[in-house]
Amino acid sequence: MMSETDIKSESMNTGANQGMNPAVAEGVLGAEQKAKSAEVLLELKNVRVQFKGKGRKPFVAVNDVSFQIHKGETFGLVGETGSGKTSIGRAIVRINETAAGEILFKGRRINGVIPKELDREVTRKIQMIFQDPMASLNERAKVDYIVSEGLYNIRGFRDEAERRAKVEKALLEVGLLPEFASRFPHEFSGGQRQRIGIARALIMEPEFIIADEPISSLDVSIRAQVLNLLLDLQKKKGLTYLFISHDLSVVRFIADRIAVMYKGRLVELAETEELFHSPLHPYTRALLSAIPVPDPRIEKKKKVLVYDPSCHDYSKDQPRWVEIKKGHFVLANNAEIEQYLAKIDAGGLANEFLWLQ
Ligand SMILES: Nc1ncnc2c1ncn2[C@@H]1O[C@H](COP(=O)(O)OP(=O)(O)O)[C@@H](O)[C@H]1O
Ligand SMILES: [Mg+2]
Repeated sequence: MMSETDIKSESMNTGANQGMNPAVAEGVLGAEQKAKSAEVLLELKNVRVQFKGKGRKPFVAVNDVSFQIHKGETFGLVGETGSGKTSIGRAIVRINETAAGEILFKGRRINGVIPKELDREVTRKIQMIFQDPMASLNERAKVDYIVSEGLYNIRGFRDEAERRAKVEKALLEVGLLPEFASRFPHEFSGGQRQRIGIARALIMEPEFIIADEPISSLDVSIRAQVLNLLLDLQKKKGLTYLFISHDLSVVRFIADRIAVMYKGRLVELAETEELFHSPLHPYTRALLSAIPVPDPRIEKKKKVLVYDPSCHDYSKDQPRWVEIKKGHFVLANNAEIEQYLAKIDAGGLANEFLWLQ
């Protein structure tokens, strides 16, 4: 069992925001016997999200993205700012329209026009937690209202007493005192505000939570607490997470599987340790090479790779999304597939990123 008291916060402090001692992170996750299942909770099939561009051509923020999220797992989505991660989250909660493809929740399509009853179900069962708790909370409303807002929208309570009881329970679940309900967001620290954001999601009794950079705006010293709270809640409630971050070492700490996104497309997807041991796509490899190493002697000597998209020759041989090895997907053309298969046969790339092992 992991509680807030045995948080490995020192592992978060080394190496600043990125800084997670991989060995410690691995140990923490190793101790967790997660209830993973093969049951698909959410699936994206060839999803495209586009926005009005400057000219006549639309700007494609999410391009042909496909993945499955299993019940009970934490699925990490990583990529630099502007790569389309939030657009995917917002498409799942039906804020962004999809221009193509399908999004399935428990096998039912939830994008496009859907029945009212399904819309209500999605509104309740899929919740989103945002990056900036200050910006996402209504500063003029009391915590009591902020936490209840989703409930009001779905009329999710019989009477005042029940609503209050639900608020109290949600606050306790995120480690806040029930009497905080009568206060305003500005009276709280960043970490507490993020807890209010989590309570707001929990009160809906969701099955699936999209956490979009939930710790990126928090002080380094309290990031581990919020991550561990999320892990704890997952275990207690059997929650499934889509965890979005631009920071690969944070995602490594929390995710069972990781998808890497670059300019609207997924370039690689694998189980977390597989991705760290055998990264195939040059963009993934560049991200891995940039993770700071706590040991300054190694940090000084290590080679940081730079991703240059012109390393791909896609003029004749176009890339496609292939499962190159069981559970390991990569965006590659035929020539690259050959090359990657040869690397896998040779035992992966373990020697190249020795400091991450
Ligand atoms: N509502 C919108 N209108 C126009 N462009 C948008 C909108 N939302 C996002 N974008 C653009 O789509 C791209 C992906 O954005 P986003 O999904 O927020 O990326 P990320 O979360 O990975 O930083 C960016 O270039 C962003 O400017
Ligand atoms: Mg974003």
